Amino acid sequence: MLASPIINQRLLEHLNTGVLLLNADLMVIYMNPAAEALLEMSGKRGLGVHFSELAEESSEARDALENAIVNGSSFTKREATIRLHNQHEVTLDYSVSPVSHPETRLPTLLVELQGRDRLMRISREEQLIAKQETTRNLVRGLAHEIKNPLGGIRGAAQLLERELPSEGLKEYTEIIIEEADRLRDLVDRLLGPRQIPKAEEVNIHEILERVCQLVTVESDSAIVIQRDYDPSIPELLADKGQMIQAMLNICRNAMQAMLEAEPPIPTPMLMLRTRTVRQFTIGHQRHRLVAQIDISDNGPGIPQELQENLFYPMVSGRADGTGLGLSIAQSIINQVDGIIEFRSQPGNTIFSIYLPLESV
Ligand SMILES: Nc1ncnc2c1ncn2[C@@H]1O[C@H](COP(=O)(O)OP(=O)(O)OP(=O)(O)O)[C@@H](O)[C@H]1O
Ligand SMILES: [Mg+2]
Repeated sequence: MLASPIINQRLLEHLNTGVLLLNADLMVIYMNPAAEALLEMSGKRGLGVHFSELAEESSEARDALENAIVNGSSFTKREATIRLHNQHEVTLDYSVSPVSHPETRLPTLLVELQGRDRLMRISREEQLIAKQETTRNLVRGLAHEIKNPLGGIRGAAQLLERELPSEGLKEYTEIIIEEADRLRDLVDRLLGPRQIPKAEEVNIHEILERVCQLVTVESDSAIVIQRDYDPSIPELLADKGQMIQAMLNICRNAMQAMLEAEPPIPTPMLMLRTRTVRQFTIGHQRHRLVAQIDISDNGPGIPQELQENLFYPMVSGRADGTGLGLSIAQSIINQVDGIIEFRSQPGNTIFSIYLPLESV
């Protein structure tokens, strides 16, 4: 069936694939909105511009384009790193096919562009979630094995304490008992939440307000808390206690980083922002509506060397830190199909939590 020119035009405008038409001199004679977005240039400015000015790759790529015009050969390139006119670098897949101009019949090139950055982010996220899951299982297994004999060690030390001939020796059994208790607390945290998560309707702002209260008390009101809430966010299905725990772990880190900073920060500030995002992909799943919660602080930032493995257990930049807070938070958020991401530089660290509200 033949589509009318208007339908063709509309389809081109709504495609997610970028479409460009180049004349024999490789000047742009048409670009659709997806191409404008991918190449970060408006159609008006792009028309008549040489393709290499819009998207610069290698000299071989330019030769291949010229070849396509001269010999009428088509080609496809995957994961090409392209430098845009504004010097941004993007990763694209592109295909080039020679076609004759529909009206003038002159030779032209049809270029189809597909952005890879988003796809690469999604596959990176999937790998990250899978890797973290493996580490968590390993750590849980290990924690379990440590916990079993611990009870025995503690019990035996208590029995021994009763049988000791002199009070002076008690000091040693006390050390055994205290250290066993410390290790048990650590192992309990490594094992993570023990109860099966409840699925109750929770209001994200109620959770954040609770966390604010706790941070205010813990910091002795030394931190200014700013809120920027989107009140239209619907309730979500999650375990309230665990959600509080996840948000608190992130906020507590921010609080500690700000209060322990050297030199001291004049006005330590914690900012909580909530928004909804439409059509957002987490891992491999696309969600129609997602809640985004940004927790940011103006502290010193996350040390560069920690950033790569931040969500793994035992990764800590603090002398008395166990490095479990973020690993637990990520595990809680993953359980409800969400994800935590972060960006950090001195003076501005943002943790973004994405929670699905409605799946497609
Ligand atoms: N907002 C932040 N600003 C600066 N550094 C941060 C921030 N959030 C996390 N970090 C760094 O990430 C590390 C890991 O955090 P995580 O909560 O997992 O462990 P921890 O705080 O060290 O120990 P725990 O939470 O188990 O007591 C911290 O030690 C800190 O160095
Ligand atoms: Mg922490």
